[in-house]
Amino acid sequence: MKVAVIGASGQLGSDLCKQLDAADLVSLTHSNIEITSLDSVRDSFQKYRPDIIINTAAFHRVDDCEADPDKTFRVNALGARNVAVVAQKLGAKLVHLSTDYIFGGEDEPRTIPYTEFDTPVPPNVYGRAKLAGEDFVRHLCPRHFIVRVSGLFGVAGSSGKGGNFVETMLKLAKERDELRVVNDQVFSPTYTKDLAGKIAQLITTEYYGIFHITNRGSCSWYEFTKEILRLAGLKTPVTPITSDQFPQKAKRPNYSVLDNYHLRLLGMDDMRPWQEALKDYLIEKGHII
Ligand SMILES: NC(=O)c1ccc[n+]([C@@H]2O[C@H](COP(=O)([O-])OP(=O)(O)OC[C@H]3O[C@@H](n4cnc5c(N)ncnc54)[C@H](OP(=O)(O)O)[C@@H]3O)[C@@H](O)[C@H]2O)c1
Repeated sequence: MKVAVIGASGQLGSDLCKQLDAADLVSLTHSNIEITSLDSVRDSFQKYRPDIIINTAAFHRVDDCEADPDKTFRVNALGARNVAVVAQKLGAKLVHLSTDYIFGGEDEPRTIPYTEFDTPVPPNVYGRAKLAGEDFVRHLCPRHFIVRVSGLFGVAGSSGKGGNFVETMLKLAKERDELRVVNDQVFSPTYTKDLAGKIAQLITTEYYGIFHITNRGSCSWYEFTKEILRLAGLKTPVTPITSDQFPQKAKRPNYSVLDNYHLRLLGMDDMRPWQEALKDYLIEKGHII
């Protein structure tokens, strides 16, 4: 089985490339493929003819998405469409990466995790564009796995976001006397190494459809920060604040915890708690031993 990874140098893409069989792997970085161009996508895949395509590419700096909706829809919606069209023509399975931010735009506050069978209500431009991307994939390429993830951290760091939250907090904790972090946005932090392992398993099946794949459990960004610093042995005080005290261009969900319900129904949800994953990440990065 030949597997192509789009966004191969990204945070998730690089972990996928490590875990997939190197002999059958086609790693496509942004310099090899431009998903907003149907010609570019067609040319790349005519050459390699993969059996499975994994599309991790996105424009996902959420506040910049608010300022540039055209780019946001071009990459996250039309880009997804282009990949789906070509995957379908080649008869390839398609894995498409999506986000928890397709949820959380409802008026009623949410307190229980979202399953794959809940109706998305995106709170911002990024979420709307990612949801449009999902729709293209669903309609154009039936042999799809739409994988919704949340709060990723991985050794490569997110190239689109210029690092990841864990590294940012470790850096700031060393530079500042105090950290102030929002405590009213709850999500499920997820280690890209664990996510890549589960995707590698999923692509060997024919269980097509939407999947939520996150590490187990949930926390606010404040609680996440407390655990990062505790594990790293840093004593910098962390103060919880509200989203109103930290205004951002894009509205974020107060609660976007994903339930790995589809995996659980299939007996495939063995994702470990985020705290264990975080500890392994800090070891892998050399922050702790
Ligand atoms: N990071 C998170 O916390 C998070 C949360 C929820 C969902 N997600 C979703 O998970 C996926 C992977 O995230 P990640 O953190 O691994 O992202 P990432 O590190 O930014 O990787 C994305 C890769 O895609 C490439 N890319 C961007 N635009 C492209 C385009 N138009 N054509 C071809 N390649 C392009 C980027 O290359 P360049 O950097 O060279 O442009 C980068 O290597 C994304 O679909 C994202 O929406 C991420």
